[in-house]
Amino acid sequence: MSDAVLLEADLPMGGIKVVEFAGKEVLLGRISSGIYAVDNLCSHAEERLANGKLKGHRLICPLHGAAFDIRDGSALTRPATKPLSTYTVRIENGEIFLGEPGKENS
Ligand code: FES
Repeated sequence: MSDAVLLEADLPMGGIKVVEFAGKEVLLGRISSGIYAVDNLCSHAEERLANGKLKGHRLICPLHGAAFDIRDGSALTRPATKPLSTYTVRIENGEIFLGEPGKENS
């Protein structure tokens, strides 16, 4: 059984939080359709995306302005072309748990 990474109450609507999971920095973002988790490092030049902005489902890198879709990690605008890794999000009793896609979400 893995540990919760964050309390749901600590992630307000439109907010971003960084947690450590599976040895990586993972960015959690909350938008109207739910809570999503992607790598915190931009796929272009590894800037920390948590220093950027979340505008709706668009996560904007602060360094060169690439936008990613936080829902599926896809790169929406250049200069980024590669998607971000995503993580599965499970909420239980107000606690957020992450899982790696393709692995058992324990
Ligand atoms: S490092 Fe993110 S767009 Fe260049």
